[in-house]
Amino acid sequence: MRNTTDYDVIVIGGGAAGLFAAGRAGERGLRVLLIEKNEKVGRKLGITGKGRCNVTNNAEPRTVIENCTTNGRFLFSAVNAFPPSAVMNFFEERGVPLKTERGFRVFPQSDRAADIVNALRSYIKASGVTRLTAEAKELIISDGEVRGVSSSSGEYYAKSVIVCTGGMSYTLTGSTGDGYRFAESAGHTIVKPVASLVGICCAERECSEMAGFSLKNVKLRVEDKRGRAVFEEMGEMLFTHVGVSGPLVLSASAHMREYEKNGYKLYIDLKPALSEEKLDARLLRDFEKYRNREFMNALSDLAGRSMIPVIVARSGIDPEKRVNSVTKEERKKLIGLFKAFQLTAISPAPIEEAIITSGGVSTREIDPKTMASKKCRGLYFAGEVVDVDAYTGGFNLQIAWSTAYAAASAIPLPDKNERKNDMKHLDVAIDGPSGAGKSTLARLAAEKLGLIYVDTGALYRTVGLYVLSKGVGSRDADRIIALLPEIDIGMEYSGGIQRMILNGEDVTDKIRTPEVTKYASDVSAIGAVRAFLTDTQRSLAEKYSVIMDGRDIGTVILPNAELKIFLTASAEVRARRRLKDFEAKGIETTFEEVLRDIEDRDYNDSHREIAPLRPAEDSVLVDTSDKSLDESLQIILELIKGALKE
Ligand code: DC
Repeated sequence: MRNTTDYDVIVIGGGAAGLFAAGRAGERGLRVLLIEKNEKVGRKLGITGKGRCNVTNNAEPRTVIENCTTNGRFLFSAVNAFPPSAVMNFFEERGVPLKTERGFRVFPQSDRAADIVNALRSYIKASGVTRLTAEAKELIISDGEVRGVSSSSGEYYAKSVIVCTGGMSYTLTGSTGDGYRFAESAGHTIVKPVASLVGICCAERECSEMAGFSLKNVKLRVEDKRGRAVFEEMGEMLFTHVGVSGPLVLSASAHMREYEKNGYKLYIDLKPALSEEKLDARLLRDFEKYRNREFMNALSDLAGRSMIPVIVARSGIDPEKRVNSVTKEERKKLIGLFKAFQLTAISPAPIEEAIITSGGVSTREIDPKTMASKKCRGLYFAGEVVDVDAYTGGFNLQIAWSTAYAAASAIPLPDKNERKNDMKHLDVAIDGPSGAGKSTLARLAAEKLGLIYVDTGALYRTVGLYVLSKGVGSRDADRIIALLPEIDIGMEYSGGIQRMILNGEDVTDKIRTPEVTKYASDVSAIGAVRAFLTDTQRSLAEKYSVIMDGRDIGTVILPNAELKIFLTASAEVRARRRLKDFEAKGIETTFEEVLRDIEDRDYNDSHREIAPLRPAEDSVLVDTSDKSLDESLQIILELIKGALKE
């Protein structure tokens, strides 16, 4: 049986690495299928950095590598080939201005993660990536070589597969560790994933009293039970209902393993800028300032409101005691609490709450230059699924971009002859009068089968729109022909939707007005217009397996199509369907008007001299007058499946 798909590369996972890899591969001219189980791509990206998206760290490649907590050296080549500066250029060139904040963290100026996601969506669209909403189930592997992916909506074939499924973190957004299973099936070793960069659960119940309270410019020191410091740094952190979290804690957690065995203690220096003497002087000054108050109220300049009751309770000093009767001994105790507020770490927060996961596909089995598997030909990995990770600050996303770039750039381009002899090629021509349901059915069938849907009517509509915008009459053939050299039509595909670009402007919606419809019908009767659009249509079919709908696809454009369908329905049925569409769009009209319009167009389209609408001799007639959309779709799918078996 011939395969129903025809891709050079399949990318599994529509997160940061997957989107970028797919776009990059498409940009290089590869035919790319992106499989993501969520309807929306980039879900996790959209919520990182508290919805602001810390896209990278404005640092040299060396610094990125230094900030990796595992396998930094493995990333040397990838990060140098696509460093933070390249990432920043990429987004800025795509209309997302960036800013660099404290710690060289880079964010979109808008503070909207959605801008990053949208830029990536446009990138894959412009690169001609085909989107499939389905769940990847297994890699198809034979003779040590990857052949494709089996998914919840069928099998898809390609010479290369990039696994970008992410790690175990954020299960709600779809990362479930499937990638580890795929890698194992290809013979890879998985370094056991553990939550890294997660918050830390602490034994002290006081944390929940302070939950939500954040500490800025504090120093955190983590000691194991032998008193050895495993981490010490300044930064921000916060209390959670189970313990502590925030950037500083996340960084610390990357250094903490086997909590029970190591018996970690956290020490927070709330006033790292003040020595004990200076702090004592501060206390005395504050006590003087608040001398008539109760002791508890004299701490408000030094500690946050949420922390005061906890500090007071720990100090053992009577909160109602007068400030001026606090002893030197008691002040010393207070200073101790400010300089080393102690917490007992009991475990990392649950893995579901992790920001990233350490662990993953062992880097020993991946080529660091290309991200290619050393175990299975044609298989690549990018992003968090690989056993690399780094501190917070934009480094982990940088790793995703760099590894995705490396993989997508390394995939070999197929040679032309190979493509021609490719047995997987299939073209389906669907012709018929307006309103028979061609476009809806062709789109749905293409989506189901992983083919490219080409709506050729949109090409005529785009020419019609241009003619209309120039104030030229729809039947003024000479002037219309003179306009053709000014017209540049681009087509972009994303998720089965064909977007029309007229001289750089996206006109997908503009070409659907009744006025443009009339113009399209008229300009399509002009031979030069048809000739002008012929190459565009044929070259798409040459490059991809397509389902192409129009009026002359089976007769003129693709006379050798493997399957030709002539789709029709009675004028009344078509008029009723159209009326519904118009009503849904809020366009006011009547049944009679729509019917008349359809009959006019039928007449126009089938009586013109050039390429009149007629069924090709070898076409299959499908009348949808008394069929539901689903019934019609089933008929078409059966026909295509039949053609594939031949
Ligand atoms: O399918 P549609 O309604 O979007 O097409 C718009 C017009 O373009 C329609 O009047 C017929 C014409 N057309 C054509 O002549 N040949 C095609 N292959 C597709 C459309």
